[in-house]
This record gives sequence, C-alpha cells and structure tokens, in this order.
Amino acid sequence: PKHIISVSAFKKPHLHQILNLAHQYRLCKIKKQPLNHILEGKVMAMMFYEASTRTTSSFSVAMQLLGGIVQKCDPDTSSLVKGETLSDTVNVMASYADVMVIRHQEKGAIQKAIVNTHTPVISAGDGTGEHPTQALLDVFTIREEIGTVNSLTITMVGDLKNGRTVHSLAKLLTLYRVRELRYVSVPSLSMPPEIKNFVKSRGIKQEEYTSLESALPDTDVLYMTRVQKERFSSEEEYIKTRSAFEVTPKLMTKAKKKMIVMHPLPRVCEISPDFDTDPRAAYFRQTEYGMFVRMALLTLVLGHSL
Ligand code: CP
Repeated sequence: PKHIISVSAFKKPHLHQILNLAHQYRLCKIKKQPLNHILEGKVMAMMFYEASTRTTSSFSVAMQLLGGIVQKCDPDTSSLVKGETLSDTVNVMASYADVMVIRHQEKGAIQKAIVNTHTPVISAGDGTGEHPTQALLDVFTIREEIGTVNSLTITMVGDLKNGRTVHSLAKLLTLYRVRELRYVSVPSLSMPPEIKNFVKSRGIKQEEYTSLESALPDTDVLYMTRVQKERFSSEEEYIKTRSAFEVTPKLMTKAKKKMIVMHPLPRVCEISPDFDTDPRAAYFRQTEYGMFVRMALLTLVLGHSL
C-alpha cells in the first residue's frame, strides 16, 4: 500500500517483510553494528495534532538513524492557528517531504485529507479509529518475546471502545492462527461491533469478559490499555471506569509464568509500577521495538516498494 492508514491494507507477505527487517535492525543494535544511511537526503514530515511521546520520538529517531531529515509541523505554531485546513497543510508539507507521518484527533480525518496526495502518508493514529504502526510493533513484540504469534491466547483489557491500538491489533492478529482473542472491559467500553465482526469473518475465536481474573490464567499475552480521558464527555463517567482493572504483583501470581504483559503506554493506573521489575513486564521493551519497526517501515516505504 502507498498510504498506511489502516492495518486492513496489510497482507501476510508485507508483515513478514517489515518484521524481518525490523529484526535485522534490532540485531544491528545488539551487535553494535553501524547502520547504513540509506535514507540520506530523504525528508519525513511529521504533523501531530494530538499529544505523543513514543510515536513521535521513535519515528523521528528511526528516520535520523538511517540518515534522513525530519521536519516537524507543530499545530501550536503552524498556520493551523490562522485556520489552515489539514488538507491544505498536507498538500504544503507534501511539497517538502518524501513521506508524511500524521496523527489527528478525529477518526477518518487523515483519510479524507490525503485524497489528492501522492506522497506516502503513514497514520500515527486517528482519534478512536486505528493506530496501524502500533499494531505492527505490537505483533513484532509478541514475535520477539515469545517466538511466534500462532496458537496464543491474547487478552485485551481496558478501554476497548475508544482504544485505536486494540482496534488495529485485533484486526492485524487475524493474519495469524491465534488460539483466541479475549476482551476484558466494563460493558460501556466494550470492543466495537465492527471490529468484532471483522475478526469473526476471519474465523478467529473471541470471548468477552468483565473480570480480568477470569480471563487471566491461560493468557499468553495480556494487553493492557488506558481508559482515555480525552474521549469522555463526562469527567464523572471517566472516573467511574478508569480504575476498573489493574495489574499488580498479587494478581499476576494467577497468571502463567511464561507470558508477557504489554501496554501501548502511556499508563495511568492500569499497571502498578511494582510490577515493572517482573520479567513478564514487556511494555518498556515494546517501546524500543517500536523504533525498529518504524525504521523498517520507513526503509520499505522510501527505499523499496511494499
Ligand atoms: N503508544 C503511543 O501511541 O504512544 P504515544 O501516544 O506517546 O505516541
């Protein structure tokens, strides 16, 4: 695909190509091998209309490690404040860039803004829609940590209604022979029907839970997510649901010894920091894997065709 807006565009060979190259980049880092500046002279424009630490930093570092140039267009200081539309900003930045990375607070806004854009666009998340590169790094994390994605029970917990990371991940996992997807949430934050229907149409077993303790014992990958304050119209409703589920060392005595806990981060109160030193806590390793995946993605989008 030229633009990467949804994981629906990926086929298994794309995934293998991206994840295998990301693995090579990880090995380079482990072996302290120098990187080729294969993206020298290439420009990546970044437009983030919503806050970000990991996605913006890992894309930026990935591009620079491969010799490329990063140009940020910050909504607080750009002509957005004078009323310039997303679509016009995209067209302007496209004239300077070889690839554009965009995050926007409105589901579907990126797709609409890029209809006439020939420069490849990578979505860094669109509101409650999707976060395709997060799903890639999540699958990469599972592969690097466990060795395979097949035959696993993967349990997603938290704000499944608004969480774009779980929307993309559930869809992407249908390319594998996972044993089962489990969704743990309060009823008001359950996985949207369109995602469940997509997963069902691919023949993957799904179960919904309201108790984390019930879903935990034979889980191989526990994927925690934050209840997203910014998606709630009522503060009261947010406070009622934000601490429904929490990973603690005590709770994790009920989990398998060989499993991993992931989180796209940032966390609020879903994982106690007391659990961070447990070897099963993979969420900070996951952030580093994100950089390797974005290096691979930029290489393939700019250097080769996907
Ligand atoms: N996981 C993730 O998207 O983090 P940021 O919002 O900090 O980029």
